[in-house]
Amino acid sequence: LFAPHRANAKGWDITHRPTLIEIDKARDPFHAHVWDATPLSSAWSNAANAKARDVVNPAVPSDTVGQIVFATPDDAKRAIVAAVPWDLPAADRADVLRKVAVAYEDNAEELFALLHREAGKTMLDAVGEIREAVDFLYYYAAEAEGRNPTPRGIWTCISPWNFPLAIFTGQVSAALAAGNAVLAKPAEQTGLIAHRAVQLMIEAGVPADVLHLLPGGGDIGAVLTSDARINGVAFTGSTPTALKIRATMAENCDPGTPLIAETGGLNAMIVDSTALPEHAVRDILQSAFQSAGQRCSALRCLYVQEDVAEKVIHMLKGAMNELRMGDPWHLTTDVGPVIDETARQGIQDHIDAARTDGRVIHALVAPDTGTFVAPTAIRVNGIADLTREIFGPVLHIATYKSGDLDKIIADINATGYGLTFGLHTRIDDRVQQVVENIHAGNIYVNRNQIGAVVGSQPFGGEGLSGTGPKAGGPLYMPRFAAMMEIQPIP
Ligand code: SER
Repeated sequence: LFAPHRANAKGWDITHRPTLIEIDKARDPFHAHVWDATPLSSAWSNAANAKARDVVNPAVPSDTVGQIVFATPDDAKRAIVAAVPWDLPAADRADVLRKVAVAYEDNAEELFALLHREAGKTMLDAVGEIREAVDFLYYYAAEAEGRNPTPRGIWTCISPWNFPLAIFTGQVSAALAAGNAVLAKPAEQTGLIAHRAVQLMIEAGVPADVLHLLPGGGDIGAVLTSDARINGVAFTGSTPTALKIRATMAENCDPGTPLIAETGGLNAMIVDSTALPEHAVRDILQSAFQSAGQRCSALRCLYVQEDVAEKVIHMLKGAMNELRMGDPWHLTTDVGPVIDETARQGIQDHIDAARTDGRVIHALVAPDTGTFVAPTAIRVNGIADLTREIFGPVLHIATYKSGDLDKIIADINATGYGLTFGLHTRIDDRVQQVVENIHAGNIYVNRNQIGAVVGSQPFGGEGLSGTGPKAGGPLYMPRFAAMMEIQPIP
């Protein structure tokens, strides 16, 4: 996927892959390591009856990655009482966050192993994720130093499994940079990574009564979002869960308690007849299938102008055929597993329904162990056919006539989501027309539509896709702080 492709007369069926040097598993100390995790909170009761759950590698079912003990709702209630804001000047907090960044880099091999064994991340994704986490730490440290924020109090941070290190670290470090106490609940599927991250934070100097890690499920989230002593909630996950959190907070918390929600999307890309097909196909492939489509930014619905549709789809099929699925530990793997069996089944049901209707344009074949879903392209009439976000390697494709562009833009906006959007064209006026009218947080022209970069591409959506402010941008950390004027940092 990420090697340079060469087209020949038949299309995209010649690929040049550089020689990759496989890491010798026997020399990787984390290849067979088994991690143990428990809540990390001074309020944790360590109840004798606490049961450890096995964490299994989604790509390799025989690989037990570790055991984790979840917090109980009572632990979460006690943590709310025990949590104290960080009593340290902002510049010193920034120093500690930078030490955490160094600790992440010093422990990159272990974090890498956790990302691929617990979360099914490919090499490329795992490396990108560690870098993004480090970027968040440096970025919010600089923000704290430059803006000297004061804390609101106690923040709940609820993070997803698809960026179990980067988004976890981004939320927690912004809340800490502002001086808050933090109650962090990572996704159930990726508690080991969060545990290692919090250990590194505490070793670097974040006090244990300031930061509490409460791994667990919806019962923990419910406690941490329904208590009047909580002063803010940062949540990244599905839109329906965000709406539930908002309703719970409205009932239980002070009216001014902020909710920062980053949620899902029905992200579209338009490829017109002037686009360079090779370029567009590369970017479609990355946008739809990198990370097995498990990014909120991922491309879900591609519109191709009908004059070029046959050619673009032919090239896309050839390019899809080059994707390698398998254990993400191998450097040659482009598409790893989806996170678990529930996810796999939900995505597969969607593909099976399309197959029954004769709408599958192209599909690969998934490995028969592990929770893999084969990259699949499905024909649709338009984005209105997508009734929900399919969080996996599934690309929906519609064709359009040039006179339909305004209607397509209206249809995309009518979904109510507004996260990412991609456009491939070589007409400047068209860029302007589309960009001015599309409602989306992050718009990408003539490139892929994933992988926003901390600091230079703040990331977040509008409408059903989130509340803002955008992560990795200048308005994000101040939202965690007590009321402050936002001036440029001198
Ligand atoms: N921030 C990620 C991206 O831009 C999505 O969550 O792809």
